[in-house]
Amino acid sequence: MRPLPSTCDGSAAIAARACSVQRGKFITIEGIEGVGKSTNMDFLAEIIESRGHVVMKTREPGGTPIAEEIRQILKEHGDEPLPDVAELLLMFAARSINVNNAIRPALERGTWVISDRFTDSTRAYQGGGRGLARDRIEWLAQLVHGDLQPDLTILLDAPVKTSMQRADRRGEPDRFEVEQRAFFNRVRETYLALAAAEPARFAVVDCSRDLASVQAALRVIADRLLYDVKL
Ligand SMILES: Nc1ncnc2c1ncn2[C@@H]1O[C@H](COP(=O)(O)OP(=O)(O)OP(=O)(O)O)[C@@H](O)[C@H]1O
Ligand SMILES: [Mg+2]
Repeated sequence: MRPLPSTCDGSAAIAARACSVQRGKFITIEGIEGVGKSTNMDFLAEIIESRGHVVMKTREPGGTPIAEEIRQILKEHGDEPLPDVAELLLMFAARSINVNNAIRPALERGTWVISDRFTDSTRAYQGGGRGLARDRIEWLAQLVHGDLQPDLTILLDAPVKTSMQRADRRGEPDRFEVEQRAFFNRVRETYLALAAAEPARFAVVDCSRDLASVQAALRVIADRLLYDVKL
């Protein structure tokens, strides 16, 4: 257990009460390429910060120096193929590093964490997209982050055609972006099935609409989450 902060002295019970830190909320943003995850993560962070919370933004794969190196391996496409199982294991290797070195410590000190992708991406891409078995993915998820689940997952949903048009504006496609439309249709369908199976955790936002409409919907979702949280 971590020692109490030095400003806390007196009896352990009083100190624990006075200095107990409310764990931060863990929010993940999911969706296929180009739907607006990065754009809306900044928007969401601003709303939460404006209510007095400290926010840490992270992304997956990546989020720490070592995990960002793994991201490079996963994104670049050279001559040597990356087997699907290796892709899966690298995703979870990066996640293990990010969870242990950045996400959990932040949540424990009361910081809210917003992550651009998390394990639902693995379920959707390596499970739905690549066809790897769901029970193996869940086994790895349990191994890597056990009881850590997002408090809220925002699924930004748009047709594949819309998402690809938006992603295309950004230049060179990475190893995932070169996949065919059928792949992204499977990924999208898997995301929607995950959201349907866990409606209490997921909020699905139709982001085929203009950005102002998407952000109005996100503001309602953020307000609902912030409503019960005392500073
Ligand atoms: N609702 C919207 N309407 C129109 N354009 C949008 C909308 N949302 C985002 N965009 C634009 O689409 C492009 C892709 O957005 P962004 O980079 O945020 O997507 P992303 O989901 O983070 O993509 P990736 O998965 O590849 O990281 C950007 O140019 C962004 O300004
Ligand atoms: Mg992005």
